[in-house]
Amino acid sequence: MKTVIKGYPHLLHGGDYNPEQWLDCPEVLEEDVRLMKEAHVNCVSLGIFSWAKLEPAEGEYHFGWLRKIIDRLYENGIYTILATPSGAMPHWLAEQYDEVRQVGPDGLRNLPGRRHNFCPTSPLMRRKVKKIDRELSRRLGDHPGVILWHISNEYGNNRLGGACHCELCQEAFREWLQKKYGTLDALNHAWWTTFWSHTYTSWDQIHSPVPHGEIGIHGLNLDWKRFVSDQMQDFCLSEIKAVRKYSDKPVTINMMEFFRPFDYYKFAKQLDIISWDSYPQWYAGTDDRETAMRTAACHTLMRSLKKAPFLMMESTPSIVNWKDVNTQKRPGLHELASLQAVACGSDSVQYFQWRKSRGGEEKFHGAVIDHRNGSNTRVFREVAALGERLEQISDAVYPTCNKPRAAILFDWENWWAVEDIQGPRKNMAYLDTVISHFKPFWELGIEVDFINEEDPMEGYALVAAPMAYLYRKGYAEKVKKYVEEGGTYLTTFFSGVVDENDLCILDRHPLEDVLGIRTEEMDAVIPEVLPNTISFADNCWQVGQLREVSHVVEDAENPIEVLSSYEEDYYQGAPALTRKKYGKGCALYLACETEEGFLKVLYEKLAEDCRIRGEFTGRLPQGVAVSRRDGEKPVWFLQNFNRAAVQVELPFVCHVVPDGRTLEGNVTLRPYECLIVTN
Ligand code: GLA
Ligand code: ZN
Repeated sequence: MKTVIKGYPHLLHGGDYNPEQWLDCPEVLEEDVRLMKEAHVNCVSLGIFSWAKLEPAEGEYHFGWLRKIIDRLYENGIYTILATPSGAMPHWLAEQYDEVRQVGPDGLRNLPGRRHNFCPTSPLMRRKVKKIDRELSRRLGDHPGVILWHISNEYGNNRLGGACHCELCQEAFREWLQKKYGTLDALNHAWWTTFWSHTYTSWDQIHSPVPHGEIGIHGLNLDWKRFVSDQMQDFCLSEIKAVRKYSDKPVTINMMEFFRPFDYYKFAKQLDIISWDSYPQWYAGTDDRETAMRTAACHTLMRSLKKAPFLMMESTPSIVNWKDVNTQKRPGLHELASLQAVACGSDSVQYFQWRKSRGGEEKFHGAVIDHRNGSNTRVFREVAALGERLEQISDAVYPTCNKPRAAILFDWENWWAVEDIQGPRKNMAYLDTVISHFKPFWELGIEVDFINEEDPMEGYALVAAPMAYLYRKGYAEKVKKYVEEGGTYLTTFFSGVVDENDLCILDRHPLEDVLGIRTEEMDAVIPEVLPNTISFADNCWQVGQLREVSHVVEDAENPIEVLSSYEEDYYQGAPALTRKKYGKGCALYLACETEEGFLKVLYEKLAEDCRIRGEFTGRLPQGVAVSRRDGEKPVWFLQNFNRAAVQVELPFVCHVVPDGRTLEGNVTLRPYECLIVTN
């Protein structure tokens, strides 16, 4: 069993702590330690935005204050997650050296200020960051209180998503392309530049895609996105190397859910631990089911990046201050939302932030300690109660991890490519499509992982690959082998369309043999104008907007079953859902978008066929989710996201964690209750 941080208390409970804002108020710092203990906090993240305090002038270092705080926390049983400070630049740096500041697509260079907005290519920025990171590591990297490196902060979280269009970045991009393609001929072919006479005759003619320049070459757009992601990943690697010089503590970065600009699967390879910042929009509607499901998908992605427990590095104990409407978590929701993270594989509940800042952009962002009332607040009491509960369940939960037998393909490169096309409809909605395939698993209580095209498929009984449009080298062969060896693979309309350069794959679908399908036309309609239906599992289902017209390819040895066909339009009778046995496994093809509910019925059947039903599958009322973490003993988390009590029928005799109380038959879950049980 992979464990998150060897030898440190689990589960972690704490959060971002910014004592640098209070250095002239020693009584506040004293009070913090006392209140942290009262709140059952066992770790904090320090130094995230401390550069100006650590290095107030170039080359002048002040680490004493930080050491003192780490010491005092450690003496009180509180561990430190130590951040490198590159998230925000001090003025002396940004003012003195233009090149460290990011340039927008309009060619304008940022003025100093704000954060997450440096140029990742700038050699000067890299040198300065390396210097401060090394100093930090040399002085504090082996402190026994420091358990983890928090490299920078939310890389790329600004209006430009980490992309910088300065001359240094343009040059680095050209070099990246030269390394990839070798010759301009190869690049011109891959980018199909003969179209509109845009053949490049010199590397210098290549610029980043910008609205007032070239944005129509999909190969260029895709490579630029790869470059932007790679460049920040490389910047991150340079920070990791800097702290590693004097410290062997594990490293993480705090990620941001399905963050489009960066391929987190690639980042994950250079990290020891995955962590992320979770800020769901609760109370977005009359119920919280959709929010809960989407949040579960985010947690699942984070666990999937390493197929291991992760950390929820930030969450708010009450409100955020950057959404259109910032609603307080009603009593009980904080505990449920936090335990949802744990249920999905997090080994921590951490907050932004411990103490509210007195001024600045985030002075009204939720925190454990408010401007007034000390520990005498509802939020503090809920945090403390949760901290206590985390301590109580820690032994049962640690070390365990969810072990799905089903996977959904979610691939960043595919995302970039799908969302760039000018094709059947304006917004191809790749992420929403993927989430719509995740939702049934969540509703059915079946554990699922996300994988990308490079991940192994062995070990999964079922792999779903919705809208797998771009096939990287070797992907089709991998699927073929997976199915031959007994896997069940489901894919959909708009799959196998382009190769890794976004060039259309000619002649036939790369998986034509496996799927038994020849695709011909792609239709996008306004369903009210051109309604269509399919029948499946004794029900008639409305067909959605995207519809592929395809034909069965007869195969005498492996006949194809048409499970459902279009019932209207000129393609009436054409297959909408097919299954073909292939080798020891089988492949399914879904030709169209469908109304809500269809996928749940389909996946419930497939789960039955693949023998991957969960213990609670088919028994969960709406808005109740279950997650299972496996270890010596499995642990189930039954989560009621309804604002009302519901009854759940237990499939076996359950023992409540931690007190061992026995439950059987029907149990009532209070609003927002999370019941944790073993068998
Ligand atoms: C992000 C940042 C934090 C803070 C929070 C506010 O997650 O990492 O510094 O700004 O948002 O929600
Ligand atoms: Zn740049």
